[in-house]
Formats: sequence, structure tokens, C-alpha cells
Amino acid sequence: MRNKKEFNVPFMKYVGGKGQFVDAIARLMPPKFGKGTFSNYYEPFLGGGAVALNMLLLSVPRKVYLSDITPELINTWHCVQRNPIRLLRSLHDIKLPACIEDYQSVRKEYNVAKCRDINTGAKWIDSMTDKQKFTIAAQYIYLNKTGVNGIYRVSKRKNEFNISWNKQLKPCFPNHQHLSEVSMLIRNAEITCQSFTLALRGVQENDLVYADPPYDKTYDNYTANGFGVEGQVHLFNVLQNMSARGAHVFASNSDTDYVRSLYSGWEKVILQRKGTISSDGCDRGKVNELLMFKRAMELQNVA
Ligand SMILES: C[S@@+](CC[C@H](N)C(=O)[O-])C[C@H]1O[C@@H](n2cnc3c(N)ncnc32)[C@H](O)[C@@H]1O
Repeated sequence: MRNKKEFNVPFMKYVGGKGQFVDAIARLMPPKFGKGTFSNYYEPFLGGGAVALNMLLLSVPRKVYLSDITPELINTWHCVQRNPIRLLRSLHDIKLPACIEDYQSVRKEYNVAKCRDINTGAKWIDSMTDKQKFTIAAQYIYLNKTGVNGIYRVSKRKNEFNISWNKQLKPCFPNHQHLSEVSMLIRNAEITCQSFTLALRGVQENDLVYADPPYDKTYDNYTANGFGVEGQVHLFNVLQNMSARGAHVFASNSDTDYVRSLYSGWEKVILQRKGTISSDGCDRGKVNELLMFKRAMELQNVA
């Protein structure tokens, strides 16, 4: 039996990451094997992928579809999937930050590449050489581990990553064993950079969908355009549609009156998060969030 703690831990810190809740979420999801299990797994707001890695540790879905709208995040997942050793080598090529200038020079190099052509969306990475892709992925992990609280925030005007150096932090980079194990877990997953609307088009009866979008009324700066109320409403409509198709659908969000009324008619469980981060990097203490779900009929009959 593999030691869960070693192998399914995300290799990045992520604002809104579900590391604290993976067991609670897994308990409510359809069983991994036998009667009432699911077919394909979809996670369209991947981030650090805590729920996906936990799910992949024990179950064997027919196919796994992981996606996110952030190109540099998906590039990093691709590098882990393809060649974790090469990624670690690129990470070791970057000097640990001894002063603010060290951090800023990596951030600047990263932003020059990132902002080369703001209008091409994911294509700015597609047009890179393999070496550049691994370098950008290593810089992404470096900035994630040495910046304030693992926040990924981009400026609205220039789309530049604008988080400061966390001087107090002793960075904890993933090691060889960790990245290799994650790489093994995701080896057959289809990992794509796209919006949730496109990512969920293929969902069918008995598939399992887990959606962890930017939350209502909290941190919403993962992308330059934000998510907003329109994003919440659009996502809800898409998820309702998946449920009507017979999929098992799970969604996380903040525990607000708005979210409760939007998802009225869905089952809800409150999860209490320790140490929530606001967009300016402050710790807001314990905060409730909601896990909402509609399971497919077949499973309801089994239960
Ligand atoms: C709350 S985080 C996900 C955290 C993740 N579940 C974890 O455990 O680390 C939300 C993610 O949604 C992504 N995102 C924002 N807008 C999106 C969209 N329209 N389509 C797909 N992904 C989007 C962001 O890039 C971010 O990674």
C-alpha cells in the first residue's frame, strides 16, 4: 500500500487549494470501484490539483480530463507529466533567492516571456521550444514557492505576475521522488489549457465532474479578466446541464447567500478552511466554504 501523504500531495501551493478537504470530498464522491462507480473524471479548474491527485491515487477512471485556463500552469503540469527529472534540472539551474534582486530578476524574465504577446492566449507557450517550456515551468514553481503565500495574481492591465518575494519563507521545492510519483499518477490524463465551457463539452452519463472555480466574493485574480458573477451563473448553467445528462456533479464555492440561492436544490456540505488568503496576501482565519453536489440517479438508488 502506498503512503498517501507522500504521493498525492500537490507540488505547488495554490490559493483556494483543496489539500485540507480531499478526504471529506472523496467520501461524498461515487465509489472508486464496483456498483455505482463513475466512468470518466473531469476537473476543469485544476490549479494545484489536490482533488485530482487524491482521486487518481486509488481509483482508475476510464479517462481523466484535467484542464485550466492558465497557460503557464498547464505548461507546468505538462512538464511534470512528460519529464519530471528534466523539470527538476531546470529548477536547480535557478539560484535560490538570497535577496530581493534575485527574486525580481527571475520574475522579470518570466514576465518578459509571459507578456510577449498578450493576445495569443495559450499560444505564447505553444510557440516556445521545449527547453523554454521547461524553463518557464521551473520559474513558475520557483515563483510559487518563494512568493507570498503561493498566490498567483496577474495585473489587469499588463497580465504580468505581480506577487512579491516572501523573504521570511524557507522555500520547500518538490524533490525527485515527489515529482516522479505525481508524474506516474497523471501519466494517462489528458491535460489541456481551455475554459471550463470547452473542457466540459464531452461529459456524458455517469461521468464525474468536480468544479472548483474562483470563489464568489473572494480571491478572483487568477486571470486578468477575473471570473465575476457572470462566470458563476454561466458555470452553474453548465453544471446543471451536466447533471441533466446523468453525470455526478460536484462544485466548491464560498458559503455566501448568493451561492446558496444559485445552487438551491443541490445537496450542500459546509467545509471549514483554516488560514484563508485574501488577494492582498492577508490570512483571514477560519472561513466556511460549500461543497455542493448532485449525484446521478443510479448512485442515489444504490445508496
Ligand atoms: C480555486 S482555483 C482551483 C484550485 C484547485 N482546485 C486546487 O486544489 O489547487 C481556481 C482555478 O480556476 C482557474 N480558472 C479561472 N477562470 C477559469 C475559466 N474560465 N475556465 C477554466 N479555469 C479557470 C484559475 O486559473 C485557477 O487555477
